[in-house]
Amino acid sequence: MSAHALLTPLEPTGSLTVEKVLSVRHWNEHLFSFTVTRPPSFRFRSGEFVMIGLMGDNGKPLLRAYSVASPSWAEELEFLSIKVEDGPLTSKLQQVKEGDEIFLGRKPTGTLVADALLPGRRLFLFGTGTGLAPWMSIIRDPDIYDRYEQVVVVHSVRKVSDLAYREELDNKLAGDPLVEDFAATQLHYIPTVTREPFHTSGRIDALIADGTIFAGAPERPQKFDPEHDRVMLCGSMAMIKETAALLDGQGFTEGSNANPGEYVIERAFVG
Ligand SMILES: Cc1cc2nc3c(=O)[nH]c(=O)nc-3n(C[C@H](O)[C@H](O)[C@H](O)COP(=O)(O)OP(=O)(O)OC[C@H]3O[C@@H](n4cnc5c(N)ncnc54)[C@H](O)[C@@H]3O)c2cc1C
Ligand SMILES: NC(=O)c1ccc[n+]([C@@H]2O[C@H](COP(=O)([O-])OP(=O)(O)OC[C@H]3O[C@@H](n4cnc5c(N)ncnc54)[C@H](OP(=O)(O)O)[C@@H]3O)[C@@H](O)[C@H]2O)c1
Repeated sequence: MSAHALLTPLEPTGSLTVEKVLSVRHWNEHLFSFTVTRPPSFRFRSGEFVMIGLMGDNGKPLLRAYSVASPSWAEELEFLSIKVEDGPLTSKLQQVKEGDEIFLGRKPTGTLVADALLPGRRLFLFGTGTGLAPWMSIIRDPDIYDRYEQVVVVHSVRKVSDLAYREELDNKLAGDPLVEDFAATQLHYIPTVTREPFHTSGRIDALIADGTIFAGAPERPQKFDPEHDRVMLCGSMAMIKETAALLDGQGFTEGSNANPGEYVIERAFVG
């Protein structure tokens, strides 16, 4: 797609609205995030995903699934995106600038929502790479701190610069008026970097095995407890499969919107 194509006005369709890019933040050569206008008719639950995209070279919308990274109450919609070098969408999407237009699907959906989990006390949000996006939505929604006493975000990435939102998370969302008071005591952030030196470097399964993920909430058991613990998984398919198998083995059952359970999953990409 040419730079000119990005400037050609888009037309809404029955399933897509056209939204304006409001801001863009490049985290590194593989990752960026951006915000777009939110149509008044767009309702979603924190943690859901939606189709977004640009006009393809063939004159048809080129769409991909994206988790919304902003919470359900926010006026703007935020997305965290990978930059795949030869990726049909992201090789172009990474060039968007303030004022450009993108397509937004009218029907957000997904299972990484509080409604798909049974009530509990401690919520673990495990994400690899861009699998952090739905957690940024959920932890910026005050509702989650009513539902859970402790919320633990574990973000596993290859390189330190892949730790998108690290500062905000390290600071427990200080400055976010709706959640900062809750997050100050209830939110725990455990970043791990697997291919560069960092204070924590194990994959998620290793951090479960050695107890690192339980360290933030010392008053609770230092192991999983299916009665009170709830888990959401997002990111690499291999991580999801392996962690889901581990949880199954410990008496957790997978939840869905129709049948809430003790954990829920959503792949953020195939790989
Ligand atoms: C439910 C769901 C939610 C998603 N949410 C997000 C999101 O919030 N942010 C996001 O960046 N992507 C997300 N994705 C992936 C996204 O739909 C696209 O695959 C991505 O934008 C790349 O599009 P592309 O056309 O450039 O390349 P594709 O042809 O779609 O992908 C090319 C290859 O790049 C790799 N890849 C694609 N996406 C990722 C990724 N996110 N992380 C690591 N490797 C990847 C895979 O190996 C894939 O085969 C989600 C996918 C699903 C199914
Ligand atoms: N992020 C980058 O720096 C980078 C650079 C070049 C290309 N890319 C492209 O982007 C794609 C995705 O990269 P990504 O970094 O977003 O995702 P990724 O390869 O899935 O890595 C993200 C994190 O998930 C961990 N992980 C992978 N498989 C796991 C498993 N089975 N169980 C537990 N943890 C697991 C990784 O650990 P390990 O490090 O131990 O695998 C890493 O910490 C790749 O296919 C690659 O082509 C990314």
